[in-house]
Amino acid sequence: MAISIQKFEEQGGRLKTDDIDFESFRTQPLPADVLRCISYMHDIEYQTVLYTRELLMMPQYKDPQFTAFLTLWNYEEYWHGHALGRVLAMHDLPAHDSRLADMREFNKRYLFWSPAIFWALGYGVRKFPAVHMTWGAINEWTANAAYNRLGAVADHPVLTELLTRIMRQEGRHAGYYASYARELLEGDRKAQKVTSWFLRHQWAPVGNGDVPKIETSFATAYLFGSGDGMELIDRIEDRIDLLPGLAGLNLVRTGIAEAREHVIEVEGFLPPPPNRVGGDRKSGADDEAVLQGL
Ligand SMILES: [Fe+2]
Ligand SMILES: [Fe+2]
Repeated sequence: MAISIQKFEEQGGRLKTDDIDFESFRTQPLPADVLRCISYMHDIEYQTVLYTRELLMMPQYKDPQFTAFLTLWNYEEYWHGHALGRVLAMHDLPAHDSRLADMREFNKRYLFWSPAIFWALGYGVRKFPAVHMTWGAINEWTANAAYNRLGAVADHPVLTELLTRIMRQEGRHAGYYASYARELLEGDRKAQKVTSWFLRHQWAPVGNGDVPKIETSFATAYLFGSGDGMELIDRIEDRIDLLPGLAGLNLVRTGIAEAREHVIEVEGFLPPPPNRVGGDRKSGADDEAVLQGL
């Protein structure tokens, strides 16, 4: 495997927030559309422990390096959710346990069955590890791009600093998943075919099913449906195209187009992100952080 667990042990851990001025959101609050995206991200970050519940049902539980990754990954994602929850709480919006309890109630039927589904996929579908490693890479790339774009759209120095720190960790997660996926896909036609089939038939932006679909659609369409957001998606498509046997899927672009249509159908229109002086501005984060670890 290209990325060792040692890198996570040495460089990862709890997100540093002790010097983040959360109180600044009281005097400089974020716009409602941005807060709606942050609520969605808070939910997805905290949901990681339930994805882990599914992943551990598969035969890969036997690999100590993989379970070490899941442990460290989970811990980092937990603190991402926690930090975003603090931003929401500063705006007197629901966060942490109250939101999560509602979410698990919303999704209880799927959550009841999902460990059994993953057990069946893990033991019944040959080469399934290539599918979930590729899936993980795509989700981490899009998470990273979403934070990059959100920082630029919100244009709030404290939020940008917080998101930049989160992005550094997302970059490592993406690097781990992508290197593992590449290793499993390389030279293995069967793994490539199975992965391509699952992505084309089952993939949707992260969160679909975990939170009301309109919330996933809104966040993805708002952040990626225009300007620099579309450019970031092009770069993710390039990365997917470079994985062995997965060229030309056009997966994320299609997902964003569908999300746009869904928001317009349900809510009548999709608000454009604010236009900054001098056009769309990149966030303070190093752009290359999106591609970090590759
Ligand atoms: Fe995260
Ligand atoms: Fe992540």
